[in-house]
Amino acid sequence: MNFDQQLFDYVVNAARDFEENLNTRRVTPDAEGLKSLDRFNEPLSQTGEAAISVIKMLNEIGEPGVVSSRGGRYYGFVTGGALPAAVAANWLAASWDQNAGPMVMSPTAAKIEEVAGTWVLDLLDLPRQSGFGFVTGATMAGFTALSAARNRQYKNLGYDLKADGIRNAPKMRFIMSEEIHPTNIIALQYMGYGKNELEFVPCDTEGRIKVDQIPTLDDHCIILLQAGNVNSGAYDDFNAVCDLALGTGAWVHVDAAFGGWVRASRTRAHLTNGMERADSWSLDCHKWLNVPHDSAISICRDAGTLQDMFGVRAAYLVEGAAREPNHHTPELSRRARGIEIWAALKFLGRDGFADLIERTCDYAKYFASELEKMGIEILNDVVINQVVATMDEGKLDQFIKTVQMDGKTWFGPTHWQGRKGFRISISSHATTDRDIEIALSSIRAAL
Ligand SMILES: Cc1ncc(COP(=O)(O)O)c(C=O)c1O
Repeated sequence: MNFDQQLFDYVVNAARDFEENLNTRRVTPDAEGLKSLDRFNEPLSQTGEAAISVIKMLNEIGEPGVVSSRGGRYYGFVTGGALPAAVAANWLAASWDQNAGPMVMSPTAAKIEEVAGTWVLDLLDLPRQSGFGFVTGATMAGFTALSAARNRQYKNLGYDLKADGIRNAPKMRFIMSEEIHPTNIIALQYMGYGKNELEFVPCDTEGRIKVDQIPTLDDHCIILLQAGNVNSGAYDDFNAVCDLALGTGAWVHVDAAFGGWVRASRTRAHLTNGMERADSWSLDCHKWLNVPHDSAISICRDAGTLQDMFGVRAAYLVEGAAREPNHHTPELSRRARGIEIWAALKFLGRDGFADLIERTCDYAKYFASELEKMGIEILNDVVINQVVATMDEGKLDQFIKTVQMDGKTWFGPTHWQGRKGFRISISSHATTDRDIEIALSSIRAAL
């Protein structure tokens, strides 16, 4: 195969142009940019075409439809802007095209992922002997940890789930707050549970589980907690719930998709107190860690929990003495997503990451205070990077649409405590003072 220099030169230039214009281009595409996407509608060709023409078309038609969620003024969902070091690592790793599943297929990926996982445990002060697996997102990280947890709970009860199956198994109870992120329910549905089989506990006004309403726990229970409510950013009381679970044999899982990273901050780590006492955790890396999308980590206190569930064995899969990545995730083959996590952490260091978390939380606090000055009502206690706000409900939809169409910033609607509102999540390293002021002035103009 000949090296196609023209192709790679073109891509480097296109990516550099994108990177340079990231903070001046519209945050969301305009009507023309969206319309041009129709040009992708063409029949599949019989003969194919030159790679350079494929990639030119991708850039010329695709780029105008791209959302600048990597920039400093995208405050929708919970979205981190990928750090340049992580994007560069992603490029290089894509070029290597490693299968990070079996160790023998990529000693580099296996080694770097082991280091990245160890760093995450250290950074977040989670039990250092924990096992971890690199998966696509917090939905899958939850699925991974919860599947492994269920298998371990059954093992502790003397029941072999993998041999004898779920249909003959004693009942396992899944307990969570009414405010649990819906992807945990989806994960449990993948595992075969209907929503009506799950037990939901009421929450307080910030979305924290009411500990005094948690049913008595025992060794047939898995309880799910949250580090960071997707609207308010509030944290469940981990210590209180872990006290309830202590000695009962119940399993405690924490969905720490974005809020878990706050453990690395100097000013707000206390919000997560007790989180380290849980049995498993799921964290998104493509959120606050600011690595490219399709990246999360599933962690279990006892590394054997993941291995028991996901260890794949076959005659052709030769195992060495080293850690086998594919024994920790649902997939056998996958990309080497841990490389970007390693690059982001190595680039930031402890201080850089703590700064990122604290800076974005401080911006959220400031943003909320400026919104209040404009007469907008803040509905949550802004403890981390999340702001939930509202205004005259009759004007809300038009207000959100006007800001979105202005193209200078983006945030979306939500419902909170029975009220319609909008939510701001500031999760990107790219956000600067100037971005915040531009976003606020767009809001002022829309009002
Ligand atoms: C608390 C929480 N859990 C889980 C998820 C699901 O994450 P992902 O989209 O990466 O699967 C999210 C996403 O916003 C979240 O905020």
